[in-house]
Order: sequence, then C-alpha cells, then structure tokens
Amino acid sequence: MKRKNQGFIIWLTGLSGSGKSTIAKRLESELKERALLVEVLDGDIVRMNLSKGLSFNREDRDTNVRRVGFVANLLSRNEVPVIVSMISPYRDVRDELKRTITNFIEVYINAPLEVCEARDVKGLYAMARAGQLKSFTGIDAPYEAPLTPDIICYTSEETIQESVTRITAFLESRDYIA
Ligand code: PPS
Repeated sequence: MKRKNQGFIIWLTGLSGSGKSTIAKRLESELKERALLVEVLDGDIVRMNLSKGLSFNREDRDTNVRRVGFVANLLSRNEVPVIVSMISPYRDVRDELKRTITNFIEVYINAPLEVCEARDVKGLYAMARAGQLKSFTGIDAPYEAPLTPDIICYTSEETIQESVTRITAFLESRDYIA
C-alpha cells in the first residue's frame, strides 16, 4: 500500500522579510489539519537554541544550515514532515543538502529586496542601512537565489494563501500528501 505520510523537508529560503515564517506557520496549520505530524525549524528559534552563539559570517551561516539540515533529516527519515524557514543564503551548502538528503524540497520565497526592505517588519533593514547591524543579508552580505528550486513563491505578487496552496499542490502532485 502506498504511504501518504512519508517524511519530507520543505526548505523555505529567502531574504529577511520575504515571508518565510508566515508561510511556514500557515503551511504547518494546513498539514496539521490533514492529520500530519509536522515540525517547524525556524531560523530565529534555532539561533536561540541549537545554533546559539553562531554569528552571521559565511562560515557560521553554513554551520547553522548544516545543523538544521541534519536535524531535519533525522525527523523526515522517521516520517515526520519538516518545514524549515531560514535565510540560508549560500547556494553551495543548500545544494549540498539537496544532494545528500532524500525528499528535500527547495522552496524559493522570492520577494524583491526593495519590497522586503519596505516591509522591514523587525526594523533590521533600517539598522543595517544605518550601519548598526553588519553583514545583513541583501545589504552588505549576499543572498544567492536558487537556480533550480522545486517551487517558487512570489510573495510580493500573491497572497500567503496562494503561496501555501502552491506548496500543498506540489506535495499532492508528488504523492507526499493525499
Ligand atoms: S542564516 O543566514 O540562514 O543563518 O539566517 P537565519 O538562521 O535564518 O537567521 C535569520 C534571522 O536572524 C535575524 N538577523 C539577521 N538576518 C540576516 N543577516 C543578519 N546580519 C542578521 N542579524 C539578525 C533576522 O531576524 C532573521 O530572521 P528573518 O525571519 O529571516 O527576518
């Protein structure tokens, strides 16, 4: 019998303020409504626990991404779907996870920098522009967009619900969920 509750990892990558966390929460609710166990690993929370003390230089960001990839893999291989929400700005380490982890689904949360900066939900872009926050992604640290993501959500052009539906439709089309 075909299993509909196999593990998978929805890996949301994108700029700060692009909508990753909001999509993660809404997607979590929708998957729970379908009676799936699901775990969310969000950058802000991970950095208070698993990755406490890591900086935002490239080496530490890559370490952060690898750690979360490791934990996400442990969960998903035991049939727990995982939603990861992290900037994860460097293509090499994302591609490394894509190559080595089964059922890894890369979702590019694509919103132009100007839009994310205008939203500035946490006031971090203003701080970065003022030079009070260094190595801020999109300002004085790079964001390398995925070249071949499995899914792209254009959050400046579609609603959160449309983005979430795009993801659930993909999961249905690949038989990850019923
Ligand atoms: S990374 O690059 O994947 O390791 O980043 P992540 O773990 O997702 O953490 C991003 C959140 O940290 C806050 N923050 C910063 N982001 C980017 N650059 C710098 N310098 C920085 N300093 C603090 C910020 O709240 C990010 O959260 P989101 O939800 O993306 O806005």
